[in-house]
Amino acid sequence: KTEPLLKVMEGQPVIPVLKIDRAEDAVPLARALAKGGLPAIEITMRTPAALDAIRLAAAEVPEAIVGAGTILDAEHFAQAAEAGSKFIVSPGLTPQLIEAAAASDVPLLPGAITPSEVMAARQAGYSLLKFFPAEQAGGADFLKALSSPLAGIRFCPTGGVSAKNAPDYLALPNVVCVGGSWIAPDALVKAGKWDEIEALAREAAALKR
Ligand code: 3PG
Repeated sequence: KTEPLLKVMEGQPVIPVLKIDRAEDAVPLARALAKGGLPAIEITMRTPAALDAIRLAAAEVPEAIVGAGTILDAEHFAQAAEAGSKFIVSPGLTPQLIEAAAASDVPLLPGAITPSEVMAARQAGYSLLKFFPAEQAGGADFLKALSSPLAGIRFCPTGGVSAKNAPDYLALPNVVCVGGSWIAPDALVKAGKWDEIEALAREAAALKR
């Protein structure tokens, strides 16, 4: 399952991390992001509307690759997979999540920060990891320091990543893509400013790796 996940992550330099309060916003939002060049999106399970948002976007926006984020346990995993998520993202990794992911066709991007966490994830078969919260954990310098001892592991840093610091991460050999919420700010989503979100997506999609 690493291959399809890698394809998604290699397909764009930035994966928008979305917190959706009104499920119906998911459709125009996913459309605008795809139009701007960011078809893969992570809808986080941080709002009551998240599952409906995933369901709507997955059903109505065929050009989008809808993933679920902030998956903390097996129940979340099952709900997100059932709603039609194409990939699943977690801030960490637990034995329960390893088991849930093993029983599913939907690929998991688990989170790890420390060498021991990365090694445990590697032993569980994961070589693509989320690095969260990236800026607070030590940023691009920290991630760069992991690249030599933990060669073969690649990351999607998220958390405090912005248009400004994304290039620092994208320049690293062990970074596939970054994730962040700056492409779809709450205020623009609430106001339905889809054109502005599309423009932010277009800028993010043009970032070099
Ligand atoms: C995530 O879940 O990946 C982060 O909360 C995104 O962090 P950001 O809002 O700082 O981009």
